[in-house]
Amino acid sequence: MPLQIVLHDITTMNVDAIVNAANESLLGGGGVDGAIHRAAGPDLLKECRTLGGCPTGQAKTTKGYRLNARYVIHTVGPIWRGGGRGERDLLVSAYRSSLSLALAHDCRTVAFPLISSGAYGYPRDQALKTAVDTIGDFLLSHDMTVYLVIFDRAACCIDSGLFDRLSGLMDVQTEQDRPAPDRASRPAQPDESFSQMLLRKIGEAGMTGAQCCRKANFSSELFPSLCSDVRRQPSKSAAMAFAVALELSPEEADVLLRTAGFSLSPASRSDRIVSFFLAHHSYNIFELNAALFAFGQDQLGG
Ligand code: APR
Repeated sequence: MPLQIVLHDITTMNVDAIVNAANESLLGGGGVDGAIHRAAGPDLLKECRTLGGCPTGQAKTTKGYRLNARYVIHTVGPIWRGGGRGERDLLVSAYRSSLSLALAHDCRTVAFPLISSGAYGYPRDQALKTAVDTIGDFLLSHDMTVYLVIFDRAACCIDSGLFDRLSGLMDVQTEQDRPAPDRASRPAQPDESFSQMLLRKIGEAGMTGAQCCRKANFSSELFPSLCSDVRRQPSKSAAMAFAVALELSPEEADVLLRTAGFSLSPASRSDRIVSFFLAHHSYNIFELNAALFAFGQDQLGG
């Protein structure tokens, strides 16, 4: 899965590069900066001293030392001053600069903290949205596995208006509220297999297979295997991810899922969130996954 939000301590991640939310001195601090320096050991600070600092929005690389990472990418997010001082542009730049350095160092896996969302006071819902949108945009044209690491679930909050609307959905008890069957109660009698319908709809949408995979939060390398065997049935999560990537309505998504023997079930909280996004023409799978994570549901992709 190219982008996954995880609840973790970033210093324990086994990745090629760990990104540090540093300050312009690069000489350590509290929060995740302090945790990374403690875990990496004193040699990290010794190397940081040779870097001459780092301007906000930019990034510099050191070795990982005692961390399970080859590199630490030190970036400096903006201090929140109300939102009118170019904070979002600087935060986007911090993510982009770090991703560029990861690419330059041939990193296949990268872990980010939620930059600026702690001591620097960036509103957490906006910090999360900017992180997800910037990283997601990068992954639409690059192959990399990125973990957005949340230290405590309270730090991960989505837009309060969206959260309230989705919470309302969670409380709705529908008469069908029975355990959602893993497979559609009425196995579809499709005249198309899943992969045949997927390929047809990708063509109709004017996309390539790789583009659709990336929009579905799938590694584009997986596309050939997805379509090589007409009889191959995807997981429900994969089928829903492609429904989002193809920008289907809930009804069209249900038709696609039925070719794989699934259906969107109002009894499933996850399906209610996915249906909400599809019904509101919101097809950014990375934002959808942030909402799924916020409600403790599995994220879509593969
Ligand atoms: N793993 C993952 N995330 C963590 C960890 C950890 N071990 N520790 C803290 N975090 C999270 C915080 O919960 C927050 O969501 O990192 C996010 C960023 O918070 P800060 O570390 O405070 O970073 P930031 O808001 O960017 O402020 C940077 O704080 O630590 C100093 O030297 C740093 O001056 C700089 C400023």
